[in-house]
Amino acid sequence: MNNQPFFTLEQIDIVAAAVRARSSYQPKIALILGSGLGGLADSIEKPDLIPFNALPNWPQSTAPGHIGRLVIGKLENQAVMVMQGRIHFYEGYSMSEVTLPIRVMQRLGIEILIVTNAAGAINPEYSPGDLMLISDNLNLVGMMGFNPLIGPNLDQLGPRFPDVSQAYDRKLSEITRQAAREAEINLREGVYAGLSGPSFEGPADLRFLRAVGADAVGMSTVPEVIVARHGGTRVLGISGISNKANLDGNTPTSHEEVLEAGIHMVPKLEKILRIVLHKI
Ligand code: HPA
Repeated sequence: MNNQPFFTLEQIDIVAAAVRARSSYQPKIALILGSGLGGLADSIEKPDLIPFNALPNWPQSTAPGHIGRLVIGKLENQAVMVMQGRIHFYEGYSMSEVTLPIRVMQRLGIEILIVTNAAGAINPEYSPGDLMLISDNLNLVGMMGFNPLIGPNLDQLGPRFPDVSQAYDRKLSEITRQAAREAEINLREGVYAGLSGPSFEGPADLRFLRAVGADAVGMSTVPEVIVARHGGTRVLGISGISNKANLDGNTPTSHEEVLEAGIHMVPKLEKILRIVLHKI
């Protein structure tokens, strides 16, 4: 864990140089794979594999089901940089550490970030195994004072007060709707509530989240998206619905269940993403 709360541009560039030293690909698209969804990285052709522990200052993935490496190669003939495993706030990292990978991506020339995650369904119409296009998010952790942009602003990357009214790119979302139609996959669409975890929500938490308009809940994504938007990176977000949130208090959620559901969603997600990559 890093004692320094904020990264300077120089520190970010050292990490970017370390990635460049280990891969000659120059991807413009990055993909973060959420819990249980890491298997999608196996489809990357001719990959350069960079373990997170080979990169200076890069936090290690400690969550079960997150391998913790960069997989850089080709998917559908596009160069892509895949984070097989992500960094979560609940692991004890600072918000700057959680979002360091996004800063590094920006310095490497990434223009589009595709974020995926596992999420619990709050919307009663959703079932485990559904995919949900993220239309917007609730930045609950940010509202509690943990916004990843707190600290000195990196003026070279973006403004002090960035607009996030269209955090999830409308064009990329439309391409994804079309892709799902072509693949004949039912794609939900809704609001993702980002909490810190690591405890799952209680029934009162979930009633609150439902009342404020959340369709799904998870422990990631929102900080990454805010930093992506700050630096002008376009974002596409897809949640894999791994479980029904425990609104009645009688159906406890487990991480094993989340990982298991993720594995079954990988083929659907891959089908959609392959079409999306063709259309981008
Ligand atoms: N709550 C929070 N995070 C999650 C859930 C959930 O029910 N499922 C997968 N990630």
